[in-house]
Formats: sequence, C-alpha cells, structure tokens
Amino acid sequence: MSDRPGSRTVPPVLPDGGKGGWLPVSTGESGAAVFRSADGTRYAKCVVATDAGDLEAERDRVAWLGDQGIPGPRVLDWRSGDAGACLVTGAVSGVPADQVAAADLRASWGRVTDAVRALHALPVQRCPFRRDVAGMVATAREVVSRGAVNPEFLPVEQQHTPAAELLARLVPQVARRREQEAADTVVCHGDLCLPNILLDPRTLDVSGFVDLGRLGLADRHADLALLLTSARETWPDEERARAADREFAEGYGSPLDHDRLRFYLHLDPLTWG
Ligand SMILES: Nc1ncnc2c1ncn2[C@@H]1O[C@H](COP(=O)(O)OP(=O)(O)O)[C@@H](O)[C@H]1O
Ligand SMILES: [Mg+2]
Repeated sequence: MSDRPGSRTVPPVLPDGGKGGWLPVSTGESGAAVFRSADGTRYAKCVVATDAGDLEAERDRVAWLGDQGIPGPRVLDWRSGDAGACLVTGAVSGVPADQVAAADLRASWGRVTDAVRALHALPVQRCPFRRDVAGMVATAREVVSRGAVNPEFLPVEQQHTPAAELLARLVPQVARRREQEAADTVVCHGDLCLPNILLDPRTLDVSGFVDLGRLGLADRHADLALLLTSARETWPDEERARAADREFAEGYGSPLDHDRLRFYLHLDPLTWG
C-alpha cells in the first residue's frame, strides 16, 4: 500500500505517442504513470525500462485473473522497448472505494467482503504466481539495503526509526509466519487497499479489482492487513473501524489474527522502493 505520486510527464511509450488525449490519473500509488483515454474506455500504465519487468508481471496477472471469474480489467495492449513499457487495459467502471463517502463505504462493506472472499476462495493450485512472505522479506531486504524506503509509507510512529531496524524487528517472526502461511495460503491481490477496489457509485456493488502487479499466493492476512488499514482512512473513528473489522471477519468467514495483520502491515512499506 503506497501513496507515491507517479511521474506525470507523458512517456513516449503511450499508444500513438500520447496523441489522442491521454489524461493523467492523479490517484496512482506507485511510481508508474497512469493515464485514462479521453473517451474513458482505457487505462495506460507506463514505466521506465528498468521497471518493465514489474509491469510485465502485472500484465500476466491481469490476464490470468480475467480467466478466473473475478471482475477486473482486460489486457488490451502491451508495448515495451528502450523508452519504457506500457500496459493498456480496459476501464473497469466505477469509482475507487477510497473516494466514496464513509456512509457509502459502510453500505458496500458487505459486498467488498464478498468480493475479497471470492478472490481468496480461488483454487490455489490454479495460481502460478507467488507473493509469499519469504519473497516479500527478500524484497524488503533489497529495498532497505538501497536506503529506498519512503518514510511517508510508514505508520507515523515508525517514520523516525531507521528502516533497517524496522526490518530487524520483523525478521525473528519470519519462521512462524512461514508456517502460518503454509496453513493459510490463498490467492492474494497483493495491494488490497481501497484505491484498487472499484465500486459502482449507483449500486455500491464491487465492479472490480485493479492494480494486480503483486497478485499471488500468500497468507490471507497480507491482503486483509492492507484492506482494514486502508478503510481506516475513510472511517477514522477507531470504534467504528473495529465494528467494521468484526463485520468483515463474520462475512469473510475466518477469524482475524491481529499479530499477523500487524506483521504484514509493517512489512508492506518496506517492499516499495
Ligand atoms: N483498468 C482500469 N479501470 C479502472 N480504473 C483504473 C484502471 N487502471 C487504473 N485505474 C485507476 O487508476 C488508479 C491508478 O492505477 P493503478 O494501477 O492502481 O496504479 P498504481 O500502481 O500507481 O497504484 C487506480 O486506483 C484506478 O483508480
Ligand atoms: Mg493502485
């Protein structure tokens, strides 16, 4: 879960060299530059050449999820070269769930719960992608060693602690988390924050998941940590948020392990950089 504004200059990898009115989307969270076509039917996500591998991984995950009966975008075009890479997807209708009023998020919460449950109920043996704790920790080590952790992604109380120390606090838990993961592996979205869940503004149904670059097999808590924390930005009242957690756990059909939620919440910001 991140909130990093992407580069907003039109990259040369956009279809037609960016002609035809591609409008920058200001709510992107990663370092990618995201554009919407003027007619609103397509999205283009563009990265520099060094990040093409990540975007290619996203392309493959979008294509895979589209075959699993879970609502999301379709791959329409892919281009990659020295100037960078660009993934063009069909627009999922609706508005990102972080942009609806608190009352509307409340009203749609049961449907968000159902959509996440359906995603997590996909047969794990069908999923060719991994997003396991071992891989996340390896990524975190690499990001931390480059000094690339963005303090703004960290919980406020951690923003003045060196990232290496934050990682060192998590490492002793990894063996236990791996055991728990083995017993609790599902197909995770990988960045299940509200901006990546689109809602139909009229019916408040979930119209789809976007931003699938980190989709893969992982402990269900990796997704739930980001979802439940992200929802707290819409309903900052902690009592209300806890009620929503309980409602979620009931509808989702599995209890929440708060230690594990905290672990994944603290690991995630160390993996962006
Ligand atoms: N195919 C799509 N359909 C609808 N909205 C999209 C689509 N792709 C991107 N978006 C919108 O653009 C925003 C940023 O795209 P996203 O892939 O999440 O980029 P980032 O990795 O920077 O977060 C999303 O939160 C969503 O609002
Ligand atoms: Mg996103």
